[in-house]
Amino acid sequence: MRSYDYVIVGSGIAGLYAALMAREHGSVLVLTKGGVDESNTKYAQGGIAAAVGPDDSPGLHLEDTLEAGAGLVDPEAASILTSEAADRIADLVRFGVPFDSVDGEVALGREAAHSRSRIIHAGGDSTGFHIEVTLSEVARHSSVTIMEHSQALDVVAEDGIAKGIVALDARTNVTQEFACRHLILATGGCGQLYRVSTNPPVATADGVALAYRSGAEVMDMEFIQFHPTALRLPGVPVFLISEAVRGEGALLLNAEGERFMPGYDDRAELAPRDIVARAIVTEMTRTASDSVYLDVTHLPPERTAARFPQIMNYCRRYGLDITRDRIPVSPAAHYMMGGVRTNAWGETNIANLYACGETACTGVHGANRLASNSLLETVVFAKRVIERTLAAAPAPTSPVLDAVKLPDSLSGQHHAGIYRPEGDAMPRIGAPARALPFAESPLSLATLQALMWEKAGIVRDGAGLAEAALTLSMWQRSAPAPSDRPSHELSNLLIAGRLVAEAALIRQESRGAHYRTDFPNTSDAWRRHTTFRRDA
Ligand code: FAD
Ligand code: SIN
Repeated sequence: MRSYDYVIVGSGIAGLYAALMAREHGSVLVLTKGGVDESNTKYAQGGIAAAVGPDDSPGLHLEDTLEAGAGLVDPEAASILTSEAADRIADLVRFGVPFDSVDGEVALGREAAHSRSRIIHAGGDSTGFHIEVTLSEVARHSSVTIMEHSQALDVVAEDGIAKGIVALDARTNVTQEFACRHLILATGGCGQLYRVSTNPPVATADGVALAYRSGAEVMDMEFIQFHPTALRLPGVPVFLISEAVRGEGALLLNAEGERFMPGYDDRAELAPRDIVARAIVTEMTRTASDSVYLDVTHLPPERTAARFPQIMNYCRRYGLDITRDRIPVSPAAHYMMGGVRTNAWGETNIANLYACGETACTGVHGANRLASNSLLETVVFAKRVIERTLAAAPAPTSPVLDAVKLPDSLSGQHHAGIYRPEGDAMPRIGAPARALPFAESPLSLATLQALMWEKAGIVRDGAGLAEAALTLSMWQRSAPAPSDRPSHELSNLLIAGRLVAEAALIRQESRGAHYRTDFPNTSDAWRRHTTFRRDA
């Protein structure tokens, strides 16, 4: 068995940045289940938020982050995020990420719910591509070992201490074990849970599922961010139209050609994502249309071309000239606010097991992530993970935040503490009152995605969530044991989907990205986190 000081799972920005920091302190293996650059990171458009402008400060950035998170942001973690931002951007510049500038100064874009222009970008709207290519090139030419097509399956732990990882070579289907002193999960998000998603195929929640299976706590999974504006053209793959486009002045029009956002929120097109996404769904329903339109035709064409070259080229490929034509858009699953619960040093409740990036739940996003805070979170907390591994003898962590107390109406009794949805005992939601059409369909990625989109999507209710949870539990029981990369991914998505549906069912209120028609208001009693842990 090969042994390393650090095994890092994932080669997006979080994994690669952590690897580049760790190589100074020991041997590093990066496992990644596809090619090195296959990641959410590569597709990031808008940029990275950092309070570096003359009219800005980490305090203002913190205020906006707290406001967007709808009462569930951990203020300490968010303060770390915003105050360490400039130093982490400087690291990326040192690695060679070519951020855009104007007259020698860093160029700053605007995005929704930011009170200042503070979005640093590269290649106009190709920020993630430049980050991924730059970091992977630096890593390839360093002492870091990168093992592609190697899918992490399970944490190896003894006495509650992570000791290594079991991984599958996706090309030979052979499993092997790697031992390590520090195991870091940086596996990204869960966008593949949903039928319409901005995320690439690798986003199958593997980190959440394998951490959960190993006994790690998973938090706030009900909070899935739906991006309001993904290109909606028949037969054309889902493609993000960056929020930065609205930041530059794009307007949203409904199928009848009317601007509608001012009627929903004073901030109009720059209201937080959850508000814009729900407004779009309302307008689509009201006008019996499958999209609304983003309009940049009033902006100077040369400015649009310079600022959004990737979006412009992609649309042109499908016959759309965005300087003259309105862009049909609708919401798509985009980002997982919840994830593997960590403290401010990226530690989980399992000693030597860390998580960073989208797979982690550090508490900085609360119920709704502020635009462009995700790339920032990856580097701020990846850096802290490596710092923590250098501390003399990091103690196993204890829970950092309050766990949920189940409401009486769900459980029939009070449950203070950690909620454990696993095995046949779950869900405690009673027998279904009606047929379960999804459960009668054979399990496949497509049926799973359709179930989640319809029953645990942008607008939810108790009946739909209960149906989703029950269907998922039935599929879990009937699914054959996974044996290759796609079946392991499907099995992981089932776990993640179940965690999303159960958490959303428990949370009997609406807050941030979680909206229930049967509980449309925000309730102070629910200003708390949902935390799940599997029984041993
Ligand atoms: P990822 O970049 O997703 O990397 C995860 C890695 O883990 C991948 O290499 C994957 O192959 C690997 N992996 C997964 N499972 C396994 C396994 N079992 N074994 C081995 N390897 C595994 N955020 C912003 O802040 N600003 C933006 O402008 C922005 N734009 C976005 C645009 C799009 C279209 C999308 C999809 C997201 C955007 N986001 C943006 C969100 C942001 O890009 C992601 O949250 C961030 O890149 C996550 O980085 P990560 O390193 O945690 O995960
Ligand atoms: C975008 O460019 O709209 C995505 C930004 C983000 O997800 O933070």
